[in-house]
Parts: sequence; C-alpha cells; structure tokens
Amino acid sequence: MRNLLDTKHLGLEDALRILDVAEDMRDTQTREVKKLPTLRGKTVVNLFFEDSTRTRISFEAAAKRLSADVINFSAKGSSVSKGESLQDTAQTLQAMGADAVVIRHGASGAPHTLATSGWISAGVINAGDGTHEHPTQALLDAFTIRKRRFGADSRGRDLSGVRVVIVGDVLHSRVARSNVWLLSTLGADVTLVAPPTLVPQDVSAWPVRIVYDLDEAIAGAPDAIMMLRIQLERMNAAYFPTEREYSRRWGLDAARLRALPDGSIVMHPGPMNRGLEISADAADSPQSTVLEQVANGVSVRMAALYLLLAGGRGETPAPAGTTT
Ligand code: CP
Repeated sequence: MRNLLDTKHLGLEDALRILDVAEDMRDTQTREVKKLPTLRGKTVVNLFFEDSTRTRISFEAAAKRLSADVINFSAKGSSVSKGESLQDTAQTLQAMGADAVVIRHGASGAPHTLATSGWISAGVINAGDGTHEHPTQALLDAFTIRKRRFGADSRGRDLSGVRVVIVGDVLHSRVARSNVWLLSTLGADVTLVAPPTLVPQDVSAWPVRIVYDLDEAIAGAPDAIMMLRIQLERMNAAYFPTEREYSRRWGLDAARLRALPDGSIVMHPGPMNRGLEISADAADSPQSTVLEQVANGVSVRMAALYLLLAGGRGETPAPAGTTT
C-alpha cells in the first residue's frame, strides 16, 4: 500500500485486509505487548493544518507502538503563518527523513495533491481533508461495528445486512462520506437522516437511503446509529435551524435511546456537542461505543501504518484500492 487517501476507491478485499491486520494489532495490545519492533528506523510525520485530538494522538500512539520515530507538525506556530506553502512545508519534512506523512488539511483534495504531485516520496495517509474524506475514521467505525457484531470471529467478515443509520450534518461531514463508501463496500445497509438543508446536492449518487425523520429511521431497528458532530464552524444560517429545534428533531436523547432495539450501538466520531446532536444520557449509556471507537482507532492506524511502511516486503501485498 503506497497511500491511503479515501474509502471511495478502497475495494472489499483491501478494506478487509486493513480490518484484519487491525485485529492482529488489537490482539497484541490486549496481550499487553505494548510495543512491536516492526517499524524501527522509520519516521512518521503528523502534518496537521487543522485541529485534532483523537486522530493526531492516535496516529502518534500507533506509530510509537510500532517503534517508528514520530515528528508532530502543527500549522499553528509554524512558518505556515509566514505564508509557507504546502509543497515547501512537506518537502522540508521530507528532507528530515519522513517515510510516511499523515496529513489533515482544511482543503478537500490536499492529501491527494501531496501524494500525486511528486513533491515527496513518502507515503501519504489522509487524516481528514475539508469536507471530503476521513478514511481511517470510517475504518475504525467499521472495525467497531464488526467487533460488536462478531466478537472474536470478526476476521474475514463483511457487514452484509447490518443496518447503520448516520444522523446529522452530512453536508459538512468527511466522516459521513468515508463511512457511506466503506460501509456500502462492506455490504451494510446505510440510511442517512438529516435536515433537508444539510443533505449534499450529489447525494442521489450515493448508495444510501435518505429520510428526514429520525424517529422513522429508529423505527427501522438499526444495528448502529452514528451521530455526526454539528460543524458550527462551517455552518451558515441558511443551513441550520435553531440549536433547540435541531436538538428536538434530530438529536439523540433519552427517549430515542429507549426506542432503539436491544443490542443496537450508539456511535459518535467525536468531538461531541453534548446537548445538541447527542444527550449525555446517550453519550454515556452502555450502548455508547464512543471510547471503544477511540481505542480501536489506534489498532486501525497501526494497521494502516504497517501496510504502508512494511507492506511492500512481500508478506503483506499492497491493497489494490489504495494507490500504489
Ligand atoms: N474524530 C476525529 O477526527 O476527531 P479529532 O478531530 O479530535 O481528530
């Protein structure tokens, strides 16, 4: 695997490969083998032009658990404020010996540009680009759903027949886009629920069902309900009802939590707007997998780094849905 840029072009075999390697990585962690020597001598650069808690720290933990050296770059406080370009920033980090670059950027397509421009030779992982994609978030979400459903028998399984409802600010959500593509590839039945103003214009080309009423979607007995963060920083008054109205019509509260079937899980990628898209009852309920998702994210990112940096040696063939 040369790069991991999106899930739209990730095939079933390749997605399962990443999820199965993540199972192996998770097993080493649960056996209290905290550190593997696999990536000793490799350098991973976390290149973050947008804020992050979970993704950046999780990639750092993943790289360190594989014994790679890690360089953390944050645009805040860097020479980006003096006008330095993405090309010059990336080439500077490459000159310091980067083998892999994990990039989060506000511009959709920035990771693709970095991977295909010829500016750097390091592999590129997209850690979230604009409103485009967040592939490792979707992989950790799929891993979490699969683990909850199949437990120790998860390896090799897809998500055929699993009903997933994704709720909220789909318009601005790279998490929603990556999940729609990946979950569909894995065979899941995906329903989107959103106010009409927060549904993207091109949604008719997506492999999903769309409903506007959350209670109707819950009545369909989903196996997982994924609440999206309302991205107030990207919001325009034209898109958004009042917070009170949004919470009443599209928020997951205690009553809706009770209406979910037994065994259904409540997901959120974080960070959460408690009291807006999700109530504290739902976020902290036994059905909530919010922290499980975070923990699984380390295993999934270990798998991605492993396949990127050690996968070309023969024992781990390059997935075809990723760029090679
Ligand atoms: N889910 C997610 O991407 O969280 P962060 O913005 O904290 O990385």
